[in-house]
Amino acid sequence: MKNITCIEDLRQLARRKVPRAFFDYADSGSYNEETLRANRADLEAITLRQRVLVDVSERSLATTIVGQKVSAPMILAPVGLTGMQHGDGEILSAQAANDAGIPYTLSTMSICSVEDVAEATGRPFWFQLYVIRDRGFSKDMLARAVAAKCNALVLTVDLQVIGQRHRDIKNGMTVPPQIRLANIIDVATKPAWAWSILNGKRKTFGNLAGRVKGMENVNSLAAWIGTQFDPALSWKDVEWIKSIWPGKLILKGILDADDAKTAVKLGADGIVVSNHGGRQLDGAPSSISALPKVVDAVGSDTEVLFDGGIRSGADIMRALALGARGCMIGRAYVYGLGAGGKAGVAKAIDILTKELSVTMALTGTNSIKDIGPQVLVNGAGKKTSARKRKG
Ligand SMILES: Cc1cc2nc3c(=O)[nH]c(=O)nc-3n(C[C@H](O)[C@H](O)[C@H](O)COP(=O)(O)O)c2cc1C
Repeated sequence: MKNITCIEDLRQLARRKVPRAFFDYADSGSYNEETLRANRADLEAITLRQRVLVDVSERSLATTIVGQKVSAPMILAPVGLTGMQHGDGEILSAQAANDAGIPYTLSTMSICSVEDVAEATGRPFWFQLYVIRDRGFSKDMLARAVAAKCNALVLTVDLQVIGQRHRDIKNGMTVPPQIRLANIIDVATKPAWAWSILNGKRKTFGNLAGRVKGMENVNSLAAWIGTQFDPALSWKDVEWIKSIWPGKLILKGILDADDAKTAVKLGADGIVVSNHGGRQLDGAPSSISALPKVVDAVGSDTEVLFDGGIRSGADIMRALALGARGCMIGRAYVYGLGAGGKAGVAKAIDILTKELSVTMALTGTNSIKDIGPQVLVNGAGKKTSARKRKG
């Protein structure tokens, strides 16, 4: 990984190493990908304020997120089918996160099960829940997450129905991968990937197989989600989940200040300002443009996390400057995984951490709690609740 210097390098390497159907699954957004592009464009449009001759020799990236000590303000985001980017992808990602001292979030739609990850890491991690029509499954899933010692629950609320990703349909994305001529040719040129998948613990959805009907062979993920995910999901379900989940509860997928207020009223410990990485409502605002209003709507008792388009340490700085407590990292680490397994995830985390550290230095900032609107060129006079950040 010597010549890998940025997240885009990992993306290019993943493109070469991972079969097209799975690379595209990770890389793409819904419909015209307008929101996907806006996530990046709006981050890049925020200019940082260069400051000089400040002693920045004692910088620290350490902070806390929902009460947990972390070495940097980052969390690996829940990503479905991580184990199809590289065999045992969830375990390897969780291990890389542990080594780096940041939380890992396991998706309901993972290949390795919650028990697999608990056994292989021996350390607490976060669990992300999708509520499906069968509420019995959700209740059982939460009990399994408790038994696996998951120390925070991320309830994703922006996927009652699925946004279409054109590339998934065109590529015939299935789990496990379908034997079609085009796939065979593609896989034949990716032997390291094939070897890792063959040697991986599982080839299908570890949390669901054997527990939810039809999970062994998912011919169309989108069609399966269409029949199983519950469009009737409502705030009442959040109350129900809050009543049965003993730990921290984080609602992920909030973009609107009114929704954020309701989440706070229902006692969420955290919310994630997110548009699902531009994979759901195409035409929705970029996450970063939605962040300040949500931060202002939320009091200081609920932590606001952010995701969508983070590809550099400077991006993390921008989100923190606008009031985020920490950032979930999605594709940036998934590219790392596809590029080089555990070492690739570690590389992605290392790149983001080092870039954030240098960005802090060059904006004259020594600690995470000192990051506020004053690090932005147009931010000094802005009224934002970034000032509410607690130590
Ligand atoms: C391939 C892929 C799969 C995802 N699967 C899930 C999932 O299972 N659950 C979930 O809450 N979010 C999921 N997300 C959304 C991420 O958690 C996160 O919100 C998003 O990736 C952030 O944007 P970024 O990729 O630009 O960093 C997925 C994202 C990607 C790219």
